[in-house]
Amino acid sequence: MPAPLISPSILSADFSRLGEEVELVDAAGADWIHVDVMDGHYVPNITIGPMVVKALRPHTTKHFDVHLMIAPIDAYLEAFAEAGADGLTVHPEAGPHIHRTVQAIRALGKSPGIALNPGTPAKMLDYLIDDIDLVLVMSVNPGFGGQSFIPGQLKKIAAVRKMIDKSGRDIRLEVDGGINPETARLCVEAGADVLVAGSATFTGGPGRYASNIAALRGAG
Ligand code: DX5
Ligand code: ZN
Repeated sequence: MPAPLISPSILSADFSRLGEEVELVDAAGADWIHVDVMDGHYVPNITIGPMVVKALRPHTTKHFDVHLMIAPIDAYLEAFAEAGADGLTVHPEAGPHIHRTVQAIRALGKSPGIALNPGTPAKMLDYLIDDIDLVLVMSVNPGFGGQSFIPGQLKKIAAVRKMIDKSGRDIRLEVDGGINPETARLCVEAGADVLVAGSATFTGGPGRYASNIAALRGAG
């Protein structure tokens, strides 16, 4: 089984020195950088906006995997694209016309992703799969880092893997929430190829980032 890409969520980083934290996880072997954008409306927490994404952009050349947990959403896509996002992942529940949102992301020259909450069925992808580059299966309810992995989502990961393979398109299958070396292995076995990890990357401080990332990849 190929090793998954690891996308550390900076939600668990030290916010007082975010630029340095991004550089440290980049040097420690992160494949992508996962940026959790929360608005206190779509999810019960508030994090960062496009100005912070723009400020972080010069600190790494890695793919900025921007997870938007905001509603409304369409009005902010351009700002995140201009700030330097590479992928923009959206929740179907965050706007009235998800297909239009996906089209808008593509028109901005960015990679569209769809995030599925624990209660959202894989079927939601039926008429979107031909237009997206990533599916994000949430293995916790969105809003906070440090929650426990919901094992029932493994079935959804396997179902999405089948849909992706059937589509014949090059679509990444990412899992977000409660990822640690043990749940990482279960997700990869179910068909995931990108893993988001906040707590499990940043735990123990900078001296541990490289070994934490290696352990998540299955090489620890
Ligand atoms: C939750 C976020 C996650 C979160 C993951 O809404 O989307 O990316 O930071 O944190 P851990 O890895 O600590 O569960
Ligand atoms: Zn996330």
